Amino acid sequence: MAAKRIVTIDGPAGVGKSTMAKRLAKHLAIAYLDTGAMFRATALFLGENGWELPEAEIASRLDSLRFGLSGSGADTVLHMNETPIGDEIRTEQVGMWASNVATLPVVRTFLKKAQQDLGGRFDLVAEGRDMGTVVFPSAPSKFFLDATVEVRAKRRFDQLVEMGKPADLHELETAIAARDHQDRNRATAPLKPAGDAVLIDTSGLTIEEVFQALVDGL
Ligand code: DC
Repeated sequence: MAAKRIVTIDGPAGVGKSTMAKRLAKHLAIAYLDTGAMFRATALFLGENGWELPEAEIASRLDSLRFGLSGSGADTVLHMNETPIGDEIRTEQVGMWASNVATLPVVRTFLKKAQQDLGGRFDLVAEGRDMGTVVFPSAPSKFFLDATVEVRAKRRFDQLVEMGKPADLHELETAIAARDHQDRNRATAPLKPAGDAVLIDTSGLTIEEVFQALVDGL
C-alpha cells in the first residue's frame, strides 16, 4: 500500500487551525483530522475530574475507545465508538479539561497511536499541537500557525458575538493564556514548532492570506 499523504498544522488555541485544516483538506480533496477534538471527546468521556484518576483506571477506560473518520474536505466527520463527535465538546470548559488530560502520558500515548492508525488509513491534513513534532514527524509538509493572545481572543469574541452567544473579551484572554501556558510547558509533547515547519504569524493576515501561505508552502 502506498504511504499516505500527511500535512500537519500545529499551533496554539484559537489560532485558526481548524478553519485552515478544513480548507486545505477541501483543496487537496482529502480528510482532515482535528486531534483537539480527540482530546476533548476523551476528556468529556473521562468526566470533569477524570484526569485525576489512577493511571491504570484511565488506561482501562481508554481501552474501550475507538476513533474513525468518514467523508472528506470540510465535510469530514470524526467518530468515537461509531458516534459522530458533535458540538458538545466545543466549550472553553471542555477545552480546559482537554488541556488537563493532554498532560497525561497515558492519554497521549493512547491518542498518538489512534492518530497514527488513522494516518495509516487516510490521506490527512492533521491539526493539533504535536502533529509535526511527535505524531507525524516525517510528514513532508508541516506548518505552525501563531498569533498573539489578544488577537486570538478577539477573533473568538467576534465569533461568539456573531452567533449571538454571551462573550467577555477579558475572560477569553485569561482562558486562552492559561491553556497556552499549560500546552507549551507540559513535560510530554509540549506545543512547539517542528524544526522543519513553515512558521506563519497570522496576527495581521486575513483568512485568505493565511490559506494562500499554506498552499504556497505545500
Ligand atoms: O485544539 P483544541 O483547542 O481543540 O485542543 C484542546 C486541547 O487538547 C488543547 O488545549 C491541548 C490538547 N491537545 C493536545 O495536547 N495535542 C493535540 N495534538 C491537540 C490538542
